[in-house]
Amino acid sequence: MSLRTFKSTTTNTNDANIPLSFFFSVGPRPDDAKAMLKTIGFDNFEGLVKSTVPPNILAKKELDLEPALTESEALHKIKQYANKNKVMKSYIGAGYYDTQVPPVVLRNMLENPGWYTAYTPYQAEISQGRLEMLLNFQTLVVDLTGLPMAVASLLDESTAAAEAMQMTFAIKGKKGKKNKFFISQDVHPQTIALIETRAGVIGIDVVVGDHAKADFSAGDYCGTIIQYPNTYGAMESGGESYESFTNRAHEGNAMVIAATDLMALTKIAPPSAFGADIAVGSAQRFGVPMGFGGPHAGFLSTSDDYSRKMPGRIIGVTVDSNGKPCLRMAMQTREQHIRRDKATSNICTAQALLANMSAAYAIYHGPEGLKDISSRIHALARVAHREIKSAGFTVAETAFFDTFTVDVSSKGLNSTEVQAGAASVGANVRIIDENTVGISMGEGITRDDLAKLLNGAFKISSPDVSADDSMAEMDAKYAREGEILTHPIFRMHHSESQMLRYLKSLENRDLALNHSMISLGSCTMKLNATSEMIPVTWPEFCDIHPFAPSDQVVGYHEMIEDLNTDLAEITGFAAVSAQPNSGATGEYAGLLAIKNYLDSTGEGARNVCLIPKSAHGTNPASAVMAGMKVVVVENDDKGNVDFDDLTMKIAKHKDDLAAFMVTYPSTFGVFEEKIVEIIDAVHDAGGQVYMDGANMNAQVGLTSPGLIGADVCHLNLHKTFCIPHGGGGPGTLH
Ligand SMILES: Cc1ncc(COP(=O)(O)O)c(C=O)c1O
Repeated sequence: MSLRTFKSTTTNTNDANIPLSFFFSVGPRPDDAKAMLKTIGFDNFEGLVKSTVPPNILAKKELDLEPALTESEALHKIKQYANKNKVMKSYIGAGYYDTQVPPVVLRNMLENPGWYTAYTPYQAEISQGRLEMLLNFQTLVVDLTGLPMAVASLLDESTAAAEAMQMTFAIKGKKGKKNKFFISQDVHPQTIALIETRAGVIGIDVVVGDHAKADFSAGDYCGTIIQYPNTYGAMESGGESYESFTNRAHEGNAMVIAATDLMALTKIAPPSAFGADIAVGSAQRFGVPMGFGGPHAGFLSTSDDYSRKMPGRIIGVTVDSNGKPCLRMAMQTREQHIRRDKATSNICTAQALLANMSAAYAIYHGPEGLKDISSRIHALARVAHREIKSAGFTVAETAFFDTFTVDVSSKGLNSTEVQAGAASVGANVRIIDENTVGISMGEGITRDDLAKLLNGAFKISSPDVSADDSMAEMDAKYAREGEILTHPIFRMHHSESQMLRYLKSLENRDLALNHSMISLGSCTMKLNATSEMIPVTWPEFCDIHPFAPSDQVVGYHEMIEDLNTDLAEITGFAAVSAQPNSGATGEYAGLLAIKNYLDSTGEGARNVCLIPKSAHGTNPASAVMAGMKVVVVENDDKGNVDFDDLTMKIAKHKDDLAAFMVTYPSTFGVFEEKIVEIIDAVHDAGGQVYMDGANMNAQVGLTSPGLIGADVCHLNLHKTFCIPHGGGGPGTLH
């Protein structure tokens, strides 16, 4: 048996053509490994493995993968993928915009292991720096949305909206009675789709339509969502003001969620002004590249009254044992252990690094800088609107911030032709339907870019891209009154040196892998190699809109397909999805796969999910969200599943057993001897086995979930792969 992971960086060193930049970034050298083995009483790896992994699950053959590459070869290969992506100026919008990462933030935060290798801030005494920046993030969101409580980031806008929907159901809903949720048809399409999926599973009836026609009078809606400004750019959807709509919803005792945009909010009244109960959105355009769709930090804010129903973490100010002010994670409602099967959310780690970058962006620019950026974006959009209209196109005439739509048939064109014209000058527009395109401005768009777009897409031969100051003013009806970002932190660090020192001072308060190993749980079993972080900031990966035409993202597709092929081999499964954006969403997606499979075999009534007591808190929370009933299985004192209790519970639920969730090796680090018997017993009773792959590192090359007999599994990218942890990060599903 060979341990691939160990020899991976040395495979090709005899080849004179290969530069010797292979040095071990991760893991011990052979002599170190020998010494470590000796310390624990083994002569070699084979001995260690044999004594740890049950023989009946040991892999009989090596993984069938391409030979491992050196670091420089790997970077070369990744560059080849990157070269197949086309970087275009994006006018697509729909929640993702061109942004500029301030170099001081790029170099000192995103590219700095002091920030990207830090662990989840469970231990407040070694996390004060990150906790302060996350508190800044919350303060930013609170200030701009006008709602007093914010969480320390979620995963993205769509999942934040679904979390908010679930909150309204937890607060106002009643199964079968008050279980309707209304979605305005002008919410971003990806958000509508995600809410529909999440709602359907737990029996919330979704109605999508014209908000002005929504009828709350029967009192059967728990909540509703509108987009402000809406997906087509209008400040409010037509037919009824958001204020009147909110009042009607409240009269019917339904809560109102506003999906909104932080950049627009620097210029327009906050959603609290029309009475929204919850605000959600993405902080992407605050200095986090589009990256083909993520990861980015989502946000959610609401009233103090609902703090206990908020998903994820809240950072709070407290006092330490010396009576001095300090910070800690104050409200981890769904974290690890607290609410378990009573949870209404399975959010665990979120997008801490990206939330921190967005907060740093706001601190660096400050209120004036942000207003300059948003005013420029608004003025560019108005220039585009003016020029396209004066060229004879019919354009939407509602008040807008950065986005408007054009009926291109008014000049005898169709959307595909306009997009082809845009692409010919290196740009993309949003195709809304055959005759309508959307144009959105972002921070990275220049006047020259706009002139090119007007010329290429709309055939305007010499557009006038000049603007006077009045073009930067918002429509008075929607303009924000008063100051933004009043907290002193947003008014202190506007020079690069000050910002640099602030970032460094926070970094110095934390323990990350650039200081020492962090002996805390499975998340720390890997260290990101520097070379793995390098492609993360290449424009061919960063500056790509998730809805870019597929012929512009060939490199991304190839890379994802190649990764999926390798992951299928490593996990022993037939297929892989790279969609879920955290371990917990991987669990959720995997359980839905099980549920849909059972439906397809006529066994859809099975709904019991057996979960060992030692399981991570996201397991029961995901099962509940997937509409399953959690039944807890006892553990013995070594952390093994109590086989007698399991057998008894399988027998009891043999007619309604849907799934068993198992973490392997277990959270205690044990490869349970009876795993195959356990899996067989579940299968014999008609259930499926979900393997939590958070500890997949320990299996790679030695065994696999497929070999052991599991049916579905997720992998946490921030544990098993090189995605920066930084206090949170995405996973993937099998
Ligand atoms: C065993 C286990 N399962 C699931 C998760 C959830 O993963 P994520 O934090 O990516 O949502 C974790 C998280 O840290 C974990 O340790």
